[in-house]
Amino acid sequence: MFDRIAGFYDVMNSVMTAGLHHRWRERAADLARLRPGDRALDVATGTGDLAVELARRVAPGGEVIGSDFSQGMLERARTKAPELTWEWGNALELPYPDDSFDAATVGFGARNFSDLDRGLREMARVVRPGGRVVVLEITTPQRPPLSTFFRVWFDRIVPLLGRLTGESLAYSYLPSSVRRFPAPEGLAAAMERAGLRDIRWILTAGGIIAIHVGTKQG
Ligand SMILES: C[S@@+](CC[C@H](N)C(=O)[O-])C[C@H]1O[C@@H](n2cnc3c(N)ncnc32)[C@H](O)[C@@H]1O
Repeated sequence: MFDRIAGFYDVMNSVMTAGLHHRWRERAADLARLRPGDRALDVATGTGDLAVELARRVAPGGEVIGSDFSQGMLERARTKAPELTWEWGNALELPYPDDSFDAATVGFGARNFSDLDRGLREMARVVRPGGRVVVLEITTPQRPPLSTFFRVWFDRIVPLLGRLTGESLAYSYLPSSVRRFPAPEGLAAAMERAGLRDIRWILTAGGIIAIHVGTKQG
């Protein structure tokens, strides 16, 4: 599915979020608290926008790897930023040693993990003690008027936009994957189970976007 939507993924993101997704990625990258020379991993990187944001913070001298299991998505990322490292990898079985990154991030990818706990454990494993794990994700707002807007947007408009792209399945999958994903407190609990501490999160875009950060125990 991700290979098939790779060609118009960036355009759809901009249309669906009115371009705001860049701002959310900047905030997620800030929470990774990277410094020049650091190493960072962006899991389920897709077309690589969050990895590019991380790369700005580790320069000069640092390294960012964008990892994904869709070659179609990775091709787009490579075209966008050939100077970064783009590698095939399954988030549930990351091909990296323990403690090898200063931070690991995932943007709009965690809700696609078939096993969320395992994906978070893997991210925590590859981060060094004291390093950060950041999860940027869509969340379901609980209170009106945003909850009403969210239902109309996700259940009616997004699938309609998806139909225009010819990939209606992918864009009706999106709202259902958001609904299945835990609320911010539940995600924080899952991050704690993965061995992360000092977990906090910010809600933005009127409570539709949650950005969680946790630190690996020393
Ligand atoms: C909605 S896209 C998000 C892409 C990007 N991170 C962003 O912020 O736009 C979800 C991505 O997760 C990837 N993905 C889902 N499950 C994965 C897994 N188990 N291992 C690696 N990549 C995965 C898909 O291939 C897809 O590129």
